[in-house]
Amino acid sequence: MALDLTVSPLSYALGAAVTGLDIRRALQPDEVAQLRDAWLQHLVVVFPAVELTLEQQVRFSRYFGELEIHPVPSLRHAQYPEVFEVTNRKINGRPSETGEIGRKWHSDGAFTVRPPTASLLHCRAIPRAGGSTWFNNMYMAYETLSLTMKKTIEQLEVVNDLFGPHATPAYRFTSDERKAEEDRKQVPGVIQPVVRVHPETGRKALYLNPTVTRHILGMSVEESDSILQFLYRHSVKPEFVYSHHWGVNDLVMWDNRCAMHLAPADYARDEIRQMYRTTLTGEPHGRLLQ
Ligand code: SIN
Repeated sequence: MALDLTVSPLSYALGAAVTGLDIRRALQPDEVAQLRDAWLQHLVVVFPAVELTLEQQVRFSRYFGELEIHPVPSLRHAQYPEVFEVTNRKINGRPSETGEIGRKWHSDGAFTVRPPTASLLHCRAIPRAGGSTWFNNMYMAYETLSLTMKKTIEQLEVVNDLFGPHATPAYRFTSDERKAEEDRKQVPGVIQPVVRVHPETGRKALYLNPTVTRHILGMSVEESDSILQFLYRHSVKPEFVYSHHWGVNDLVMWDNRCAMHLAPADYARDEIRQMYRTTLTGEPHGRLLQ
C-alpha cells in the first residue's frame, strides 16, 4: 500500500501530479490500481523528476497494459521497438525525423483501428525556455455542447488518414524513399465515430483529430469543415486545457481516448528537446477505410 501517494490537481480541466511513490521499483497491485484511478480521473498524470532508464520506463508502462510497437516502422527505436524518440537532436549525424511532430492537436494513433489507450512521455532534455506539451479534456468539450449539436454529431463518423492526399503536413518520417513507401502501406486510412464512449469510465467524449481527420464520412471536405472547425475551436478553449512545462525527467502519462495534446514550436531549435514515448495498445475502435 502506497501510504504516501499524493495526487494533486494541476488545473481546472485536467492533469494531476503524483508524488510519494517510487515508480522505478516493482509495484503492488493496489499501487497500480491507485495510479490507474488517478489517471482515469485526471486524464493526465505527471510524475515529476523521476530518473528512468528505457528498461524502467518499459517496465512501468507495462503495469497499465500491453505495449504497442509503433505502426510507422521507421519510428521504432532500434533497440527497444516499443519506444519511440521525439527529438530535434541529430541521430547518427542526421537531422531527426521527429523534431517537428505533434505541432497540431491530436490524440496518438487515431489513424489506426486500435488507437492506444495511453501514452507515456519521459523528458530527457528540454530547452531553457518552452518545449511544453498542451493537453485538453474531450469529455468537457463534449459535455458543454448544446443538446442540438450533441444530437447532430451523435451518429457522425470521420475519415482519419495519416498519409492521405489531404494530409497536412504531408507526413514522412524518413528521407529513405523505400522506407517512406513501407510506412504508407502499413498505415491505411480508418473511419472513426466523432463521439466516443470511454470503455472504462462510460463517459462520452469528442473523438477528433485535427492532425489526421480529413472529413466527415459522406460529406465533402468543404461541407464537413464548417462542423469540424467549430468542434476543433470549441475543444481547445483555454478552460479545457492544461499546459505542461517540462522539467528534466518528468514522466507524463495521458489517456488518448478522452484527451488530445500538442507540442507547440515554442522553443529555440538550436537547443535540444528529447523525449521517449511508450504507448499502450488500445481497444478496437472504428474500421478500416475500404
Ligand atoms: C506526441 O505528440 O506524442 C509528442 C508530444 C511532445 O513531443 O510533447
